[in-house]
Amino acid sequence: MKIVDIHSHILPDVDDGAKDVEESLKMLEMMKTQGITDVFATPHFDASQYDIEEFNYVIDSSKKSLEESIKGLDLPKIYIGCEVYYFSGIGRISGIKSLCLNNSNYILLELRYGHPITDQVLRDISDIYNKYGIVPIIAHIERYAKEKGFKQLLGLIGGRTCLAQINATSLMDKNPFRKTSLKLIKKGFISFIATDAHSPQMRPPLMSQALEVVKENLGKEYVDTILHNFEIFHDNVLAPKNNI
Ligand SMILES: [Fe+2]
Repeated sequence: MKIVDIHSHILPDVDDGAKDVEESLKMLEMMKTQGITDVFATPHFDASQYDIEEFNYVIDSSKKSLEESIKGLDLPKIYIGCEVYYFSGIGRISGIKSLCLNNSNYILLELRYGHPITDQVLRDISDIYNKYGIVPIIAHIERYAKEKGFKQLLGLIGGRTCLAQINATSLMDKNPFRKTSLKLIKKGFISFIATDAHSPQMRPPLMSQALEVVKENLGKEYVDTILHNFEIFHDNVLAPKNNI
């Protein structure tokens, strides 16, 4: 069984995630105990602070240094991606492909927290899909449920123009997003649960607990759907079969 964490901040010293290799290692060990087999390192990409080439160089170097230090250890396999912070016009930039998860046709997109989901945002999401054939995955969509335009965003998910991810920690007891997260899963809007882990303490990788919460509250079939999506994602994005 494959459990693919598509959203994490495990790379050392590149964003507000793991601060050094030791912390990265701790997070990877925790992920392993949570059953995670494959993990995407998705540092924040903010186009107002970085150009794409510079960013890719920095994260590539960070991944290499991490892999060098964990050589030979039995830990989840690491893939590169990033969490792209939404900006107006993102649907029309040419370098967008190099921000995708493992050079696939999926991009992890973070919307502005506390801002309405405007027609421009919806148009950009549609453009990413329609112009480039890239499927945006909306990161921690539960955060935006109260924003104006959320219904229209769900409409795009219903039409398969984009997909959605929720954070594992949002399903935990007392989390303010728990109810919304369960509701979104129940209605079939969520393709992925991911950890969005930032450190062993801050938003730790609670994947197996999250799946347990889904099972207890909604039933095993909802967990099976998420697990099925992990398998499909693994087979199509991480281990694509070669055409002969
Ligand atoms: Fe994140």
